[in-house]
Amino acid sequence: MTTLTTTPLAPLLDRLFEEAAAATSPAVAELSAEERSRLIRSKTEYLDFYGRLKDLWLPVSRETGMLLYMLARGSGARTIVEFGTSFGISTLHLAAALRDNGGGRLITSEFEPSKVARARSNLTAGGLIDMVEIREGDALQTLSVDLPETVDLLLLDGAKALYPEILSLVESRLRPGAFVVADNADLCPEYLERVRSTGSGYMSTPFGEDVELSMRLG
Ligand SMILES: C[S@@+](CC[C@H](N)C(=O)[O-])C[C@H]1O[C@@H](n2cnc3c(N)ncnc32)[C@H](O)[C@@H]1O
Repeated sequence: MTTLTTTPLAPLLDRLFEEAAAATSPAVAELSAEERSRLIRSKTEYLDFYGRLKDLWLPVSRETGMLLYMLARGSGARTIVEFGTSFGISTLHLAAALRDNGGGRLITSEFEPSKVARARSNLTAGGLIDMVEIREGDALQTLSVDLPETVDLLLLDGAKALYPEILSLVESRLRPGAFVVADNADLCPEYLERVRSTGSGYMSTPFGEDVELSMRLG
C-alpha cells in the first residue's frame, strides 16, 4: 500500500487531473503560436506570461507524477525542492513519497497567489500539507535563502528559461546521487547543454516524452 494509490490521495488526484484537463484560458487563446513560443523561452517576461496562464494548471503528466513518486520513494528522499507549484499536482506526488519514507520537508515555489491558495487547499485535502512549505513569490528570490543543508531531489517545472539559474541556487545542496527532474527541458537548450556536458557533475538523459532526468555525481 502506498499513500499515492490509496484514499484520500488516489481519488483526489483522479479528480484534479480531470479538472486540469478541462481548464481553459481566454488570455492564452489570444496569444499567437509565435508569441507563446517566444514568451515561454523568455528570461525576462516570465511573470507576465505565467500571470496570463494563472487559470491553467499545466501539471506534469500522470506518468511523470508516478516517476516523481518512485524516484523520491526509491531514493529514500527526505528533502525536496520544487520550482513551480501551480495547483500542486506534482507536489502531491512528491509529498506522498516523503510520507511513505517516514517524513521530510518539501519546499515548493509559486509566484501566483491564487495558485498558492489552491495548492494549499489541495495539499490539505490530500492530508499532506504538514510536510510542505509553499514559498510565495519569484523563485529566484524565494529559493535563494534558507534551503536545507542537503537536498535529495529537485523538480524544475517553473519558467523554462530559468532552469539554469534555479539549478545554480540549489546545486551546492544536492547530495551525491540526488535526482534533478526537469519537465519540458527541451524548451531550455542552455540547461540541457549544462547538465549533459562532460565534467558538469551530472549524469543526464532524456526520459519519456518530456523529462530530462539528471543525477548529481559525487
Ligand atoms: C508548469 S506549471 C507547474 C505545474 C506543477 N509542477 C504541477 O505539476 O502541477 C509552472 C508554474 O510555475 C510558476 N512559475 C513560473 N515561473 C516562476 C517563478 N520564477 N517563480 C515562482 N513560480 C513560477 C507558474 O506560475 C506556474 O504555476
